[in-house]
Amino acid sequence: MSESEHHDRKHGHPGHGHAAHGPAAHAPPSDAAAAYSRAREAARPDPGRRIVHVDLEARETDWEFMPGVTTRVWGFNGQVPGPTLEARVGDVVEVCLTNRLSEPTLIHWHGLRVPAPMDGTDIVQHPVEPGGTFTYRFRLPDAGTLWYHSHVNETVQLERGLYGALIVRGDDEPVLDGEQVLVLDDVKLDRSGQAAKFGGLVQWHDGREGDVRLVNGRSEPTLTIAAGQIERWRIVNASSARYVRLSIGGAPFQILGTDGGLIEAPVPATDVLLAPSDRVELAVGPFEEGEELAVEALAYSRSTIKRRKTERFATLRVGPARPSSAVIPERLRSITPLAAPSTPATRTVEFGIKLSLRSGIDFVVNKELHHQDKPVRVGELQVWDVVNSTLMDHPFHLHGFFFQVLSVNGKPPAWLSWEDVVNLPPRSTTRIAWMPDDRPGRWMYHCHILEHHAAGMMAHFDVVRGDTEVGEGSSVSPAGHRHD
Ligand code: C2O
Ligand code: CU
Repeated sequence: MSESEHHDRKHGHPGHGHAAHGPAAHAPPSDAAAAYSRAREAARPDPGRRIVHVDLEARETDWEFMPGVTTRVWGFNGQVPGPTLEARVGDVVEVCLTNRLSEPTLIHWHGLRVPAPMDGTDIVQHPVEPGGTFTYRFRLPDAGTLWYHSHVNETVQLERGLYGALIVRGDDEPVLDGEQVLVLDDVKLDRSGQAAKFGGLVQWHDGREGDVRLVNGRSEPTLTIAAGQIERWRIVNASSARYVRLSIGGAPFQILGTDGGLIEAPVPATDVLLAPSDRVELAVGPFEEGEELAVEALAYSRSTIKRRKTERFATLRVGPARPSSAVIPERLRSITPLAAPSTPATRTVEFGIKLSLRSGIDFVVNKELHHQDKPVRVGELQVWDVVNSTLMDHPFHLHGFFFQVLSVNGKPPAWLSWEDVVNLPPRSTTRIAWMPDDRPGRWMYHCHILEHHAAGMMAHFDVVRGDTEVGEGSSVSPAGHRHD
């Protein structure tokens, strides 16, 4: 691929001239710098906790997804994924980002309840120019398996490797025999082993999937576990578009947690669906020595043009037995429901498509590209009906706040959990509840199929304090009726 090709920032979404993608839709507010300084100063560790300092340098590097095949990638600190960051609840993380790429970048903290100026998107800060630096500094309020990734020219920057895991540990975590962090991804390489050319109808419609399946930056690696032991696996789906219905050789495992940390009680399963950007925590094992299991994505139809069969991500080999002291408590946590399943919705958000002269189909929210949604007030319970009116799945992601799923097509979910992404099946209504705590500013939600997000399937909204006047501006008109 030539330099000019991979620096052409429109190639991620062919056929789309994104008028609405300009500075008007994506620019930080005028008081952004002051809000950032305040948030930076206010980030203090809890008593007895510490400040975890990390330097992350985004740069081009050579990487072997497959032994013997060198691919030019973009990674943090020369690796794909970037380093796994680890800290404890109540710590402050201070990340100094240096951009050594040839184009702007920034880091979004996916799933973290940070102040708006630290969210790492181009609606709260100016992207970091080549050669520039930016410091993110925030307190970690929640335990869980989170992740970080670029939020600029995402279709290219994530595909090329600008993402990593962030593990936050709490005080009362179950104690198992070991832990593995598995970051799943897929990449599309050309015959010379470089990132394949971007574009084409299938990629634009389905999202970009690749035939090289990665665990922690390596193609179909071999993982190991000791016979007799039970490990905690923290799994992140960092793919641009691929849905992973994860199976570990069909063996039973227990689901311990999801996006927002532990669930209330372990749930036994033999497969679990991870939409793009989803996380799960599993208790895996015990197995017998010599067993070999396929860690694979089972066939899952999300109504795309290209269908996928069962495909392998890794092989798990069971080594010699070691003693186990794993204890999986029957109760992991208690989660207070935010609202009864029948609570009426305060807002409807519709993920849809619209015929467009320019591109054939537009992926929209409330009938608009880059929708401006109404503000929400701090402390006012949000109950949203998130409607998918299309015939394919979309993963809905809310920045900065965890929500609870109240129902899917009127039916309560199998368990209560905190989520920042939920898959929206075709022609469905998912009712979610969330509480805007006191973190005013600009936030967003979007489809986490990166090509859909880039094409406009996203919305911005303000979180405002109770005493803020909400004027007649564009942000207060009823959703979806502005341009009719
Ligand atoms: Cu991982 Cu805007 O998202
Ligand atoms: Cu989508």
